[in-house]
Amino acid sequence: MATATTSPRIDGGRLLERLATLGEVGSTGDGGCARLALTDDDRAGRDLVVTWMRDLGLDVRIDQVGNIIATFAGTEPELAPVMCGSHIDTVRTGGRYDGNYGVLAGLEVIESWLAVGLRPRRSLAVGVFTGEEGARFAPDMLGSLVYVGGLGIDEAHDALDAAGVRLADELDSIGYHGDTPCPGPTPHAFVELHIEQGPVLEADGVTIGAVTGVQGISWQELTITGQSNHAGTTPMALRHDPSVVVAELTMFVRRLTQQLGGHQVGTVGRVELFPNLINVIPARAVMTVDLRNTDPDRLRVAESAFADECRMLEQSEGVTIERRSLARFDPVEFDATMVDAVERVAGDLDLSVERLPSGAGHDAQMLARVCPAGMIFVPSVGEISHNPAEHTSPADLEAGANVLAVLLAELAELGAAG
Ligand code: GLV
Ligand code: MN
Ligand code: MN
Repeated sequence: MATATTSPRIDGGRLLERLATLGEVGSTGDGGCARLALTDDDRAGRDLVVTWMRDLGLDVRIDQVGNIIATFAGTEPELAPVMCGSHIDTVRTGGRYDGNYGVLAGLEVIESWLAVGLRPRRSLAVGVFTGEEGARFAPDMLGSLVYVGGLGIDEAHDALDAAGVRLADELDSIGYHGDTPCPGPTPHAFVELHIEQGPVLEADGVTIGAVTGVQGISWQELTITGQSNHAGTTPMALRHDPSVVVAELTMFVRRLTQQLGGHQVGTVGRVELFPNLINVIPARAVMTVDLRNTDPDRLRVAESAFADECRMLEQSEGVTIERRSLARFDPVEFDATMVDAVERVAGDLDLSVERLPSGAGHDAQMLARVCPAGMIFVPSVGEISHNPAEHTSPADLEAGANVLAVLLAELAELGAAG
């Protein structure tokens, strides 16, 4: 990595304005955004960001899975580019910063270099990865996983949402089924700037997080089939009730996390009952379980205890439980040089900094499979995220983008361009 490179300061006002403008696309009316992957709102968000990219004169390519890669050519464009970026899809009740911040800060860095006529030696690419959230098409981080060759394009195209809609059809319908081949070119390095989405930085009064890695993620979807029957006439002892199994499993997940302690977390985020009527014992329930741990062995222990509980409930409640894995990623450790560099650059900018692992999944964990990757976090106010109330102070947003700028300037060798 080049040393002692610096970068012009980014324009915080311009970054905030773009964040606010993008936040209006798919606005939920309460400060949040609903831009589920490959919906018309996602298309509108993409169109806006692509317009900004073209206004900056970037070379914008859409790949076969809909990833948008915008490149600012370096003076030696044959060298592997440095890449930054994130995603702009959101959960249905998302905030304005998750993902969007990393993408728009990348554009802001390029604009700040353009403003003073600087061009780095290596090209700088800003990636907008398709379907990071996994809230519509699983797995999460789908676009970046395909970008690095971890998932084949055909398999990705065949992913179905909960309504049975195929990912490739949605790419066609929103006009983002590109022809740039996947996997994409291997970057020299990848950096993702993101809000923390957790409590650590705010609690510690620290501005910058040097992210050490991402915890392991296990997503399962369960289909529980019982016996639909009359709510008034069926004796309790004769019931095979999927809703009871949902409740038992939800409480089991809570107890499991308490028993395992440490970093183990577990969430039942989606539950659907069929036919979902007041006086009918459900025939079927579909529920999701999200288990995460920084320790791969403990995550496996949690998964296996959960599987045992499912088998036990099949016997005791007389139901069948089909389990389908939606996503399964081991914990990832970021490249030590990148973690060190985030810490050093933050210190050079007189910003307080600490190391921490990420609780959320990120595109950077996929890029880490093919190149040195790292992440910069800024604090989340009130530890709220995946919620319209998600917030980070303007000063922290600006500080994080300045760390990104200096780090990208070093990696892409801005000083060397002269
Ligand atoms: C995705 O962002 C996740 O961590 O759920
Ligand atoms: Mn995100
Ligand atoms: Mn998210």
